[in-house]
Amino acid sequence: MQLIHSVSELRARLAGESSVAFVPTMGNLHAGHLDLVRIARQHGRCVVVSIFVNPLQFGVGEDFDQYPRTLEADCAQLGGLADVVFAPSVAEMYPVPQSMTVTPPPIASELCGAARPGHFSGVATVVLKLFNLVQPQVAVFGKKDYQQLHVIRQLVAQFNLPVEIIGGETVRAADGLALSSRNQYLSPAERSEAVFLSQTLAELRRRLQAGERDIVTLEQQAAAALTARGWQVDYVSVRAQATLAAPESGEKKLVALAAARLGSTRLLDNLEICL
Ligand code: PAJ
Repeated sequence: MQLIHSVSELRARLAGESSVAFVPTMGNLHAGHLDLVRIARQHGRCVVVSIFVNPLQFGVGEDFDQYPRTLEADCAQLGGLADVVFAPSVAEMYPVPQSMTVTPPPIASELCGAARPGHFSGVATVVLKLFNLVQPQVAVFGKKDYQQLHVIRQLVAQFNLPVEIIGGETVRAADGLALSSRNQYLSPAERSEAVFLSQTLAELRRRLQAGERDIVTLEQQAAAALTARGWQVDYVSVRAQATLAAPESGEKKLVALAAARLGSTRLLDNLEICL
């Protein structure tokens, strides 16, 4: 495994590679990230992982400064799994102010985008830059960030980027909590409560699969259940998997998405639901 910090060295290393599978990350790797890297291994001879905490996708007052930076431990985990780790500095990625950015589609202003204006523009912009640098044939993203995966698929489709996007399943702790670098912000009491987010989505799925169809009521009751336990709910929403729009009646492939805060930690989860 080769650790590369500069764009010029990255380009030199990847010149001539015709089968590159890429996993973009912000580091502080856990089993969910490593699963994506293993998927990448099945799709490319050369596996590249980027580790870059992207300032463009953090809003004012968000956790950019606090975000855990653990490059040494990350590289130790990637030894044997990745061929190249690209870990640029902010100055290397943004040598001039990034005044040209990607404007994502309107769906990026809903769900997480409603609470985090500009977030998906920052994500789409850095991913476009990373794709241009790495020039992968395949890139793997987690379904854990379902809306992000949707925005990336739109980026690729609408800009005709020659890369195949693969969605990896969410890796969970034994109790069901989706793994996330942000879980370490949780106090022990919050950590035991955190599982209630995935349980709430599972209950929503159970009721939909049992035949209930009043989606607005189901969403409201799920949000109320979280609020009653001390969560601050950003949203609980049932959408169509393919578009993330509100489902038309008869839609069979749904996804229930939720974002809610426990104390100051914002947790995200979602569950695909087939009717
Ligand atoms: P980060 O949060 O580090 O996540 C990197 C990738 O890991 C994303 O595709 C995310 O969906 C996936 N991931 C996170 N937790 C997961 C889990 N429990 N199971 C499976 N996959 C999981 O997402 C980002 O970084 C950034 O926005 C990025 C795309 C790198 C752009 O800066």
